[in-house]
Amino acid sequence: MPPVPDPTLFDKVVNLCKRRGFVFPSAEIYGGFRSTYDYGPVGVLLLRNVKEEWWRSMVQLRHDVVGLDAAILSPPAIWEASGHLQNFTDPLVDCRKCRERFRLDKLDDPNECPNCHAKGSFTEARHFNLMFKTYAGPVEGTGAEVYLRPETAQGMFVNFKNVLETSRKRPPFGIAQIGKSFRNEITPGNFVFRTREFEQMEMEYFVPPDEAGKWYEYWCDERLRWYVELGIPEDQLRLRAHDEEELSHYSSATSDVEFLFPWGWDELEGIANRTDYDLRQHAQASGESLDYFDPALGERYVPYVIEPAAGATRTAMAFLMAAYDEEEVAREGQGQGESRTVLRFHPRIAPYKVAVLPLSKKPELQEPANEVLGLLQPHYMCDYDETQAIGRRYRRQDELGTPYCVTIDFETLDDRAVTVRDRDSMAQDRVPIDALLDHLEPKLS
Ligand code: GAP
Repeated sequence: MPPVPDPTLFDKVVNLCKRRGFVFPSAEIYGGFRSTYDYGPVGVLLLRNVKEEWWRSMVQLRHDVVGLDAAILSPPAIWEASGHLQNFTDPLVDCRKCRERFRLDKLDDPNECPNCHAKGSFTEARHFNLMFKTYAGPVEGTGAEVYLRPETAQGMFVNFKNVLETSRKRPPFGIAQIGKSFRNEITPGNFVFRTREFEQMEMEYFVPPDEAGKWYEYWCDERLRWYVELGIPEDQLRLRAHDEEELSHYSSATSDVEFLFPWGWDELEGIANRTDYDLRQHAQASGESLDYFDPALGERYVPYVIEPAAGATRTAMAFLMAAYDEEEVAREGQGQGESRTVLRFHPRIAPYKVAVLPLSKKPELQEPANEVLGLLQPHYMCDYDETQAIGRRYRRQDELGTPYCVTIDFETLDDRAVTVRDRDSMAQDRVPIDALLDHLEPKLS
């Protein structure tokens, strides 16, 4: 039995994100800018860790995947060939009564407006292209049109030949990229789940056509495993295969990794068999040959592509939701609060790994506190906090998800030891400063 989603979790996480500096509404001093968000001092660390872990598993720890960082601005020719100009649309309907706008394919009942409950009030569906268009140079007009990429994937396809010629990789091999994508979503919402500007982590894995099925299965398993390894409980994740009508214009098979969000199961990542669609389209449109000659087989073929495509911002949100916990605890130090909120992040995802907390602001504690901070900072992202009662500072670090707090007290001046407090068990160990790195390393790596 999967856990039942907690509908109150959404507001709790959104509030914590604002209160603790994970995510701020964009342009807030101007009243906000609908569905855009800024990542604050802690959120930027969380997002970097998500991307870093993806890169580590998809590029660093493999011999068959290389990286790329392609341009965001791209000419219409790319999107003409990829099919996005024609197909990357959502069906849009307006309610004639309340004038609200909806995506037809997301309505529970296509005859009833979910806002004003009018029946049969929708206009005919119009196909609305999701790409943002702008102009390069001072003259607006045809010829100067450019698009902000709606997926990072096309950068990999149009560089296939460059990478093949320079990297000495041969199918099966992949090209991975992390970067911003832009979609003029009709109904953005659910916090950072669906926004118009977001970050993707995508990998195009080029394979011999007859191996596509095998690699599709392989990447579905690999990608699901990644989320579990980084601490998302298995019963909050599932793989769901798309049915025929749901498939994108380029895909012969797609499975989504879904997470149990507070509103129910929803997509974190799609793993698609894109066949040879994109390479063939670009070869035809550009006139460049994008096939591969396999010297072992003596054969020329256009590789098939298996694509695991994840959202970095959406994944960060899932890590926040999965990590959120509240519990009743005994008093710590002078702190009040018998209940605490704690983000139980995996240490590799946690924004700060260690917080250095001198017990008081007294000058004699500053020297050992600085020494400890200087010892840890080259290895770990650390927070430093010397104000308020220690119990309140622990609560703050719990809400940031910091796995360990290191407290420097007056005994430190005599014994050169510090207290290491564990976020989850709240257990405290006395550890000599000289042994601190060895003590933390196995817990944080
Ligand atoms: N290249 C294939 C592709 O872009 P997609 O399913 O449209 O596939 C991949 O996007 C992932 O990007 C999604 O699973 C989701 O995590 C993320 N994503 C897509 N649109 C998004 C949006 N508007 N806001 C936030 N994340 C989004």
